[in-house]
This record gives sequence, C-alpha cells and structure tokens, in this order.
Amino acid sequence: MFHIGIDSEEVSRFESLDEQLLQKIFTYREIEYCKDKSPQSHHLAGKFCAKESIIKAFFNYDIQLSLLDIEIINTEKGMPQVIIPEYIHKEYSVQISISHNNSVAVACALVMESQFLKALEESCWK
Ligand SMILES: CC(C)(COP(=O)(O)OP(=O)(O)OC[C@H]1O[C@@H](n2cnc3c(N)ncnc32)[C@H](O)[C@@H]1OP(=O)(O)O)[C@@H](O)C(=O)NCCC(=O)NCCS
Repeated sequence: MFHIGIDSEEVSRFESLDEQLLQKIFTYREIEYCKDKSPQSHHLAGKFCAKESIIKAFFNYDIQLSLLDIEIINTEKGMPQVIIPEYIHKEYSVQISISHNNSVAVACALVMESQFLKALEESCWK
C-alpha cells in the first residue's frame, strides 16, 4: 500500500529563526543548504513542509517520526531527497516534491511499502 501527506506554511514564519530553534528543526546539512540560498526563509519553509508531509504520511502506518528523524538533502541538480532512519528506510520508500513562492511553501510526500513498490515494478515488466 501507499500513503500521502501534504503540508503548507507561510514563508514569513521562517524569516528570523535563531540558531537554537533552527537546530531543533533542521539538520546541519539542511541549514547549510538554505544559508547558501536567497531568500533563505523560502527554502527553510520548503524543507519544513517536506518533513511535516512525511510525518503525516507515516502517521497512517502508526509510525511517529520527529522533525530531526528526517533529513531533506538536494542532489547536484536540486532534486530533494529524503533520508530517514535505516530501520524505516528498509521497509518504506519515500518521495517528495517541494514548491515555494514569496508567500507560501508547500510539499507533498508519497510513502510506499518497499514490498508494494517491488510488486508494482515487477508487474510493470510483465
Ligand atoms: C526545478 C524546477 C521545476 C523548480 O521550479 P520553480 O518554479 O523554479 O521552483 P519551485 O518553488 O516550484 O520549486 C523549488 C523546489 O523544487 C525542487 N527541485 C529543484 N530541482 C528539482 C529537480 N530537478 N527535480 C525535482 N525537484 C526539484 C527543490 O526542492 C526546490 O526547493 P529547495 O531548493 O528549497 O529544495 C525549475 O527550476 C526547472 O528547472 N524547471 C524546468 C523547466 C525549465 O527549465 N523552465 C525554465 C525555462 S522555461
């Protein structure tokens, strides 16, 4: 099976977070990525939405994740990728998409059981 999650936030909420609060929400790599971007708040808001959307999707599996259990990194091409604890990663595949503009950031997540994904892929090749 699969589940989805979605979240949106006003980017202004992320405009003047102090370092202590940042570190309660974001990993070192996430903070460094956003510091290189302008405006930083848009990218922070996007990553926050991604984390919340993943948390929501996992609620459906009765799995409770915290913000720092989830890391959103970006490939060289900018594509967001999700890092979750190994014991969860073994069982589930997570895909996300993020968007932000001057006022709002949104993200949606798709969480699929690895076994379901494997069966789906196999059925596509039949
Ligand atoms: C990647 C792209 C789709 C982002 O769209 P956008 O409207 O600029 O920006 P959005 O706010 O909607 O999305 C930004 C988020 O997209 C995600 N993103 C970036 N590159 C991505 C990629 N290659 N694949 C998937 N997602 C990507 C990131 O999560 C990014 O947010 P982050 O940097 O904070 O993590 C866009 O830049 C792009 O390359 N489009 C291709 C078409 C094109 O070249 N158009 C311009 C000429 S007409």
